[in-house]
Order: sequence, then structure tokens, then C-alpha cells
Amino acid sequence: MTIAPGTLSDAQIKSLAARIDRPIVLVGMMGVGKTSVGRKLAQLLSLPFADADEAIEEAAQMSVSEIFERFGEEYFRDGERRVIARLVAEGPKVIATGGGAFVQEETRSLVLERGIAVWLDSDVQTLVERVKRKDNRPLLRGGDPAEIVARLKREREPFYAQAPIQVLSESGPHGETLRRILEAIDQWL
Ligand code: S3P
Repeated sequence: MTIAPGTLSDAQIKSLAARIDRPIVLVGMMGVGKTSVGRKLAQLLSLPFADADEAIEEAAQMSVSEIFERFGEEYFRDGERRVIARLVAEGPKVIATGGGAFVQEETRSLVLERGIAVWLDSDVQTLVERVKRKDNRPLLRGGDPAEIVARLKREREPFYAQAPIQVLSESGPHGETLRRILEAIDQWL
């Protein structure tokens, strides 16, 4: 696994990993890259990785889209809250959350209290380009995805901004994003 040059050495990453005593929780908009960045971050730190949406799908034996279709958003949010509480209780790991998770008060308080919350952010255009690649997001089906993404980002920013660590994730490879996350966690711990 490579991260951007001019960055932490393997030994520094190892010593940082040894200091991580609670879950690192990636929050932020759909399409920002929480799952792919999270996987790589976990690999770098030799920590387990969990994707909250995948864990919900596993628990429900249904896709996120199916849950929304059959039971509605409120039901999904309830499952999401319970799944994230379980993942957080499991200790050090990297958790990628769905874009709406940190907006929920209970989840946000829990993550702020028991985890290291990292807000991954990018501009609306980058988010829209990324979400267009997959048709698996029920909240984007009701209208123009670009408008919905812009609105959700605006509405959710005050919540995401409560994360103590905030990292810009630009388009292109994730090396620079990983470096920023590692350095920010190093300083925050
Ligand atoms: C959602 C984001 C999705 C998923 C669900 C709802 C949201 O996760 O949890 O479709 O409310 O923004 P990603 O952020 O991984 O796309």
C-alpha cells in the first residue's frame, strides 16, 4: 500500500497504529470515497475494516435499496443506528458509515464520544461524478442526482463539521487523502 510521498514512514505508521485505541469512523457524503479510503486506511494501520452499509445488508439479508423500498428510510435508519453501535463497541477498527449516519443524533454522539470521527469532504461536482458510477443509492432516485447531492451536502454540513478531524478528498488517487488522515489522527491523539 502506498501513500503520498513526503509522508509518514512505515515505522511512524506502525507507532501511530499502536496508539489507536478506538474505532476510526469515516463520515461524509455519499460518493466521497469512505469505503475505498477506509479499506486502504485499515490496511495501512493493520486494523480490521467494516462498512456499515454492508453490515446492515448482512444483518437484514437485503440490499440497502431493498430495505428502503420495502420498509422505508426510517426503518433503515433504525438498523443503521444499531449496526453502528455494535461496530463501535467492537473496538479499534476502521468503519465507513453511510452518508446519513452521522446526521442522526444518537449515532453522532456515540461516535464523537467513543470513536475518532473523520469527515471526508469533497466538492459537489466530484461527489456527483462518483455517485453516477453506481445506481445503488435510493435517495438519488427521486430527482436530479446533482441537485439532491448539493442539497443534502448543504443540509448535512453542520453535522459533519462536528467531527474533530476534517479531510479534503479530491478526485484522483487516494494517497494524498490517506496521508492527510494519518497526519491528522497523529496530531489529534
Ligand atoms: C445514504 C448513503 C448511503 C446509504 C444509503 C443512505 C445517505 O451510503 O447508507 O443509501 O443518506 O446519504 P454511502 O454514503 O456509502 O453512499
